[in-house]
Amino acid sequence: MTDKPPGGLWFQAAHRNREPIGEVLREVLPAEGTVVEIAAGGGQHAAYFSGLFPHLRWQPTEPQADRRDSIEAWRAHTGHPNFLAPLALDVEGPWPIARADAIYLANLLHVSPRTASTALLRGAARVLVPGAPLCVYGPFTRNGAFTTPSNAEFDQTVKGWHPSYGIRDLEELAAEAVDYGLHLDEVRDMPANNFLVVWRRR
Ligand SMILES: C[S@@+](CC[C@H](N)C(=O)[O-])C[C@H]1O[C@@H](n2cnc3c(N)ncnc32)[C@H](O)[C@@H]1O
Repeated sequence: MTDKPPGGLWFQAAHRNREPIGEVLREVLPAEGTVVEIAAGGGQHAAYFSGLFPHLRWQPTEPQADRRDSIEAWRAHTGHPNFLAPLALDVEGPWPIARADAIYLANLLHVSPRTASTALLRGAARVLVPGAPLCVYGPFTRNGAFTTPSNAEFDQTVKGWHPSYGIRDLEELAAEAVDYGLHLDEVRDMPANNFLVVWRRR
């Protein structure tokens, strides 16, 4: 599904990265159940992944109302029966989710305060069933170091958008995640200096 529906938002980056992300998710997601997408943005990924994984229920969530309207537009456009209506979820607030068989999110942690990363790990650990994956796509530093000069520049760019933003450190998050019962399972190198990181609920 590449054409933009009326009322639906379309972002080049989300279009570009959906296929490489989908290849990894194909190996990581469970055979059945509900995938909760956090920070689903305009809904392009939900539209694509609900088609790619018709055996899974795809539950997008997004805190911004105008973006949830866009997700609804994509949902109507695709007609995928497993593409569920978007829910309002801010990781730092109450989660309207009782359980998840997997969680997926892209490009949230560097454009939110550091407290949002903690809230994500804590919330994910609460709702994921044992063994279920938390799949996080985006840029990270490794052991406190930028992986490329362009990511160091990007970190300055997002800090210009808001001083609380910034590229998070994978090893720091992994150490914190252990406290919540999430262990680091896989780290995949992705195009454009991104990673797809998979934690699993113990
Ligand atoms: C850069 S966009 C990424 C959207 C989409 N995942 C993608 O990759 O195209 C970041 C998204 O995070 C959402 N967001 C920001 N703060 C959030 C929070 N505290 N909890 C959940 N989502 C949040 C924003 O509303 C926005 O839609």
